[in-house]
Amino acid sequence: MMKIFSPLLFCLTLFSITLAQAQERFSFFQASTVESVTRMLKFAGLRDDDVLVDLGSGNGLIPITAAQMNLKLRAWGVDVDEKLIRESNQAAKAQGVGNRVRFFHRNAFDTDLREATVVTMWLFPELMRLLRPTILKTARPGTRILTSTWDLGSWAYDEVDSGNPTIYKWIVPAGVEGYWSWKLPIAGHQITYSAVKEQRFQAVEGVVRAGKYRELLQDIKLRGEDISFALAMTLDGLGHTRHEFRGKVRGDQIEGRATVTLENHQKLELPWHAERTTTSLYFAPTGTEVKTD
Ligand SMILES: C[S@@+](CC[C@H](N)C(=O)[O-])C[C@H]1O[C@@H](n2cnc3c(N)ncnc32)[C@H](O)[C@@H]1O
Repeated sequence: MMKIFSPLLFCLTLFSITLAQAQERFSFFQASTVESVTRMLKFAGLRDDDVLVDLGSGNGLIPITAAQMNLKLRAWGVDVDEKLIRESNQAAKAQGVGNRVRFFHRNAFDTDLREATVVTMWLFPELMRLLRPTILKTARPGTRILTSTWDLGSWAYDEVDSGNPTIYKWIVPAGVEGYWSWKLPIAGHQITYSAVKEQRFQAVEGVVRAGKYRELLQDIKLRGEDISFALAMTLDGLGHTRHEFRGKVRGDQIEGRATVTLENHQKLELPWHAERTTTSLYFAPTGTEVKTD
């Protein structure tokens, strides 16, 4: 009898192991202290129009406290533990914030963060690192991310409150990787700039070409959708120039201002509009390429 059933048993065991593996991405419940939650929420700098999302909301302490600290914001939490979700929704009602605070039985990895302006997490450190792609894919640029105790590894934090526990803050950066192109009218010359940008989290490096000249972009800063960088470059017909760019990234467009300082120290303030492109003139042949055959 056993012999007949053992392959079936084996398959069932394998099936349940597979299921167990598919559900491995969670950590257990332990409530934060009221003191650490209050510090975290003060550090977040809560605003009336915020929508706070707690990934792994446990007993609901973070969203409920946030709604008590700011009487206008909305907050919601997700947790894999259905019982905790039921209790958190009851607690929100009992504490008079049920109209602005909700809890959902959902895995953090399946959570769409488009609506969030503040995301809080206190999960196992490896889980929080695994959540980085979900955050970067679904949260809008400028969203503040706060964790307690553990950081997000190679995604360098933007601010830290080094009390006990340590609280870290990140600002979700806009995506600027790729090819960008823009034109500036400078002292009677129409200059076309073709930039190539590489990005890891908020760290950006870039190069640019105008005519036959190529240069590195300097001091690139990206905070949410705000980008700025400098450029020192010789331009055809203009000699050595210095540029300061600052603007807002909106999808495949950047709108902002450029300050250009000419060789004679004259300063020009110009509107700056850049567009992301699929190909780049940066790589257009200059006729000086070395041939290998
Ligand atoms: C350490 S507790 C933190 C609770 C609450 N955020 C706080 O700070 O008091 C972690 C919570 O995350 C939940 N959790 C763990 N992994 C999760 C996941 N992948 N998706 C949603 N919730 C998760 C657990 O059930 C637990 O309630």
